[in-house]
Amino acid sequence: MQYRATVAAWFLLLCGAVYGQLQPTTPARYRRLPSLREQAAILDGWRDERLATLPALLTKYRIDAWLISQREYAEDTLWWSIKGATEYAPHRRTVLLFHKNTSSLAGQPNPLRWVDNTGAVWPELRRVLEAYDPHRIALNTDKYIAAGGGLHVGEYEALAEELGERWMERTVNEPLLAVEYVATRVPGQLAYYRDLQEITWALIEEAFSEKVISPGITTTEDVEWWYREKMLLLNVTTWNHPRVSVITPESFPGWSGTKDVIREGDLLHVDFGITAMGMNTDVQHMAYVLRTSQGETDAPQGLKEGLKRANRMQDIVLENMAAGKTGNEVLTESLTQMEVERITGQVYCHPIGDWGHAPGAVMGFTNLPDFVPVLGELRILPNTYYSIELYAYSFIAERNETLRFRVEENVYWNATTERWHFVRGRQERFHLINAHAGHTPSIVVQS
Ligand SMILES: *[C@@H]1O[C@H](CO)[C@@H](O)[C@H](O)[C@H]1NC(C)=O
Ligand SMILES: *[C@@H]1O[C@H](CO)[C@@H](O)[C@H](O)[C@H]1NC(C)=O
Ligand SMILES: *[C@@H]1O[C@H](CO)[C@@H](O)[C@H](O)[C@H]1NC(C)=O
Ligand SMILES: *[C@@H]1O[C@H](CO)[C@@H](O)[C@H](O)[C@H]1NC(C)=O
Repeated sequence: MQYRATVAAWFLLLCGAVYGQLQPTTPARYRRLPSLREQAAILDGWRDERLATLPALLTKYRIDAWLISQREYAEDTLWWSIKGATEYAPHRRTVLLFHKNTSSLAGQPNPLRWVDNTGAVWPELRRVLEAYDPHRIALNTDKYIAAGGGLHVGEYEALAEELGERWMERTVNEPLLAVEYVATRVPGQLAYYRDLQEITWALIEEAFSEKVISPGITTTEDVEWWYREKMLLLNVTTWNHPRVSVITPESFPGWSGTKDVIREGDLLHVDFGITAMGMNTDVQHMAYVLRTSQGETDAPQGLKEGLKRANRMQDIVLENMAAGKTGNEVLTESLTQMEVERITGQVYCHPIGDWGHAPGAVMGFTNLPDFVPVLGELRILPNTYYSIELYAYSFIAERNETLRFRVEENVYWNATTERWHFVRGRQERFHLINAHAGHTPSIVVQS
């Protein structure tokens, strides 16, 4: 026992990470999601749980009523986080009034909802407001935070005309209401989020294998489109076209992959996520194309060290992340710790959930590496999922060049530890593409 404990302690020290080995040892499987009908019941359950938190959330932000007005195809961003599973765009003009469930509205549906194309909603709404007498009415008019800025200008004008000075002077902009409502997760989501995460990894494991890639033939774009087609078979979609790149000193995190034929010795990268059951994933992994023709059986040591550095940066961010800190505080603390450990690189983490880029505090942006105005100044909320996205620079002696080791994994909040933990784990070993000469992928990608 003693001996094994010592070995384990040394093992952790050698890994240089308090978190130990976090890459799952078994391959990811394509999980089958519930039928659409079952999903609808699950999604509506989560939605009801979230709506039930609204009276308390309104109280927290000293709001008496939250008014949302929208028309079909010009919906408020918030719509997508409150609608029923069988609803799509809001019909006609859909007006929602969230309230604190008190006084004249106690026991009434929350939100109250009107669907109208005759103008009948306005006198009704005025009558409800008269009886309820809210002092602070939130409107989604924020200039900076999209989740709290979904009220269209035409709708604002219609409201101003119909409600008049009497109610308009009671309206306030409180974007944190929408941020907290949209970003907050409910416990039942995690089990399914783990499934989505496993599907994401399974896709990457298949894409970054000789089943899909034939060095000298397959291009990075072929792999991108393979992801798109394969997702159809898995009954999931995406919120961003997959980006597959060959990593070179020049390739920078951006909005597209590279356009290369994949060759032996390449370091590959993917930035990609799926959408299903009202949730999104966002993951980046790297792969190495073995020089099989030269008998190579593993990635060069220099590359492995680069990945270790990026893993260490993930630990640093997770060690510093705490609910209540601002995104910029965590960013500064993480960059300072990196300096102590002589790691250079960049951090750009964001909340994830209802959206691939969900509302809430961010830690860095690729173009704002040290400080992010507005979104970086928000406080990190508990009960949220985050995407830990970053790169470490590492010099590769074998290549005489410095590369960016870009990784991204999704983490969930654990209310007991009050920390974020990897949903599935994290990449600590390269996906290896081991294609022998004359090999043809079993899945032929149309170009
Ligand atoms: C996708 O949905 C179809 C239709 O329900 C089903 O036949 C198929 O097995 C599903 N695929 C997966 C991977 O869940
Ligand atoms: C409002 O009150 C009614 C009746 O007490 C209750 O059924 C409903 O769940 C409450 N709604 C919220 C969002 O608290
Ligand atoms: C490594 O690259 C640098 C320029 O990036 C060059 O000056 C140097 O000669 C190279 N060293 C070797 C051993 O090729
Ligand atoms: C949260 O952490 C506690 C303590 O480590 C653990 O027992 C529990 O299983 C974790 N919960 C989740 C959802 O991971």
